[in-house]
Amino acid sequence: MTPKRSIFVTSALPYANGPIHLGHMLEHIQSDIFVRYLRAKGDDVIYVCADDCHGTPVMLKAAAQNITPEQLIEQVGIEHKADFDGFFISYDNYHKTHCNENNELSCDIYKKLYDKGYIVTKTISQLYDPVKNMFLPDRFVKGTCPKCGAADQYGDNCEVCSATYNPTDLKDAYSTVSGAKPILKDSLHYFFDLPKFNDFLQSYIKDVLPQEMSNKLQEWFDQGLKQWDISRDAPYFGFKIPNTEDKYFYVWLDAPVGYFASLKNYCAKHNIDFDSYIKKDSDKLMYHFIGKDILYFHSLFWPATLKGADYRLPNKIFVHGYVTVNGAKMSKSKGTFIQAKTYLKHLKPECLRYYFASKLNSQAVDLDLSLDDFMAKVNSDIVGKIVNLASRTASFITKKFDGILADKALDDNMMEDILSIKQIVLDAYENRNYQEVIKQVLALADKANRFVDNNAPWVIAKQEGQEQKLQMICTQALNYFKAIITYLSPVLPKLSEDSAEFLNTELSFDNLDKPLFKHKINKFKPLFARIEKEQIEAMIADSKQDLQQAKAQNTVQETKTSEYEPLASEITIDDFAKLDLRVATIIEAKQVEGAKKLLQLTLDLGFEQRQVFAGIKEAYKDEQSLVGRQVICVANLKPRQMKFGLSSGMVMAAGPGGSEIFLLNVDSGAKNGMRVH
Ligand code: MSP
Ligand code: ZN
Repeated sequence: MTPKRSIFVTSALPYANGPIHLGHMLEHIQSDIFVRYLRAKGDDVIYVCADDCHGTPVMLKAAAQNITPEQLIEQVGIEHKADFDGFFISYDNYHKTHCNENNELSCDIYKKLYDKGYIVTKTISQLYDPVKNMFLPDRFVKGTCPKCGAADQYGDNCEVCSATYNPTDLKDAYSTVSGAKPILKDSLHYFFDLPKFNDFLQSYIKDVLPQEMSNKLQEWFDQGLKQWDISRDAPYFGFKIPNTEDKYFYVWLDAPVGYFASLKNYCAKHNIDFDSYIKKDSDKLMYHFIGKDILYFHSLFWPATLKGADYRLPNKIFVHGYVTVNGAKMSKSKGTFIQAKTYLKHLKPECLRYYFASKLNSQAVDLDLSLDDFMAKVNSDIVGKIVNLASRTASFITKKFDGILADKALDDNMMEDILSIKQIVLDAYENRNYQEVIKQVLALADKANRFVDNNAPWVIAKQEGQEQKLQMICTQALNYFKAIITYLSPVLPKLSEDSAEFLNTELSFDNLDKPLFKHKINKFKPLFARIEKEQIEAMIADSKQDLQQAKAQNTVQETKTSEYEPLASEITIDDFAKLDLRVATIIEAKQVEGAKKLLQLTLDLGFEQRQVFAGIKEAYKDEQSLVGRQVICVANLKPRQMKFGLSSGMVMAAGPGGSEIFLLNVDSGAKNGMRVH
């Protein structure tokens, strides 16, 4: 037996500005299975998470809803917690980064870094919204790409031509918060001197990450680490930086400290020595589960700040890939951007836990939730192979033997079948190779089902004088079932609880070598229902509706937060007459390879056909639905040569861009080619 370990386990802290979706759930399910395995094995675990509350998006979202950020995070915290409970995620504590514990710890870390000379200040010039009086993070600035001229591109890169640039390079830049033209403004910023930790980090990442990953990260060091800007100016929802008037910690400075804050909050409630977990020479282990997108923060910034401030360091960082649905990025319009609560309305949490487990290993590769495969796998494995073992044997024990199992199994090799995979399964859990766990357990289930098929208890039951054999066959099948469910208990906690009640015993790894003989079981009740196609369809339909609701909410927000786009300068009727607007029908709509925003449209203007590239792809994900639709075309716009071809005209639409674009409609009866006056 390995000695008992004390382990502090975390999942990344979800942002408080949005709902939990199935992408998040991968991480929480992955970590929960690991934690349940550790606990079952006897390790001493504290498993925490929290909402990540700070930053501009939370501040603006609260403003849009006319509530305080505190009210928003309170409400979201309750929703997030309910989602995790719904999936049986067994956090010991779920906290918030906006709390006293975190403020104190973040300031303490900062002060120690400051005292040791790891904080430097520099004046930098950034885009500023003169209407809202706030500095604009890159994603709140949009404008025309300086390289290819595509409109409505974000401040850091162009989704049409993939160019990267500074927000100050954008042409016709505007603030997405107010619509105003940003100005440049100087401000003093605080930086963490990351390059001083270059050598430490380069060797440290080799300890906490698998080799393939730390090798890959070598690029960061080759490019040279940069000083990290950790301050933001007011207005900002966050913690004030000590000894400053109006500077706040950038959300990513205090977010990982939130792991400690949640732990501290837990320790205080349970009389546990918090310091023993976070001090430099702590003998407790600390493991983080994160997605590949936040590796930089967790393997560089976080350890370097901890090192600089003389705190303990993470022992392992477990990185997972991204969830895709039906082979593509989760998509709101396809209904595959599935929120946790929407899933739970239609399907059992353990179906997803099982499916994710069957595909997870220790590598950070993306994981596809193929909904057909999901249904087939759950039905065939859990219902068809596992629960079926009990459902087709238990009733004989109940009816014919008063619920009492035989005093031995039919075959001598049953215990060997069960125990031969024990170490493999435990090691696989330890290495977070749940795929292997499922593979081993399914092989055992196959063996058990073959045993039942070969011995056909339903035939034996009809034969005179075969009672004892019948009882032994069913006893063996139910002991296989017990072992299988025990092995899967970290993955399927509820099924395991229900099965324990049915078998009238405690299911634990320690009991794997203790078969149930001469033991009374309870009457079998259905333990797991098949997934029906309608449930999945209803979930997708509901997810599409979530999108409509979110859109409606956003529209309200838009009008609430931002002034309307400023009016353009006055024109005469002659100016207007210069525009030649025509009714046209979209006769073909195609995706453009390599373009994130564009659709290629063929328009029928009555007198001729034209090709137009329109930046409407995000708003019209199902481009085929556009075919046959009448639109208004700016017909005398000078043709423009784009990377993808010549665009001869423009289709008219309202809205700020992205998924918020609304093509203009024409009343029925209008003919292609008619001019709009
Ligand atoms: N708030 C930060 C984390 C701070 S940790 C100190 C954040 N939040 S997040 O809500 O955007 O993401 C939380 C976690 O969910 C991250 O680990 C992220 O990788 C993971 N996922 C978000 N979408 C995902 C998928 N589609 N698939 C798998 N994991 C994904 O980042
Ligand atoms: Zn561009």
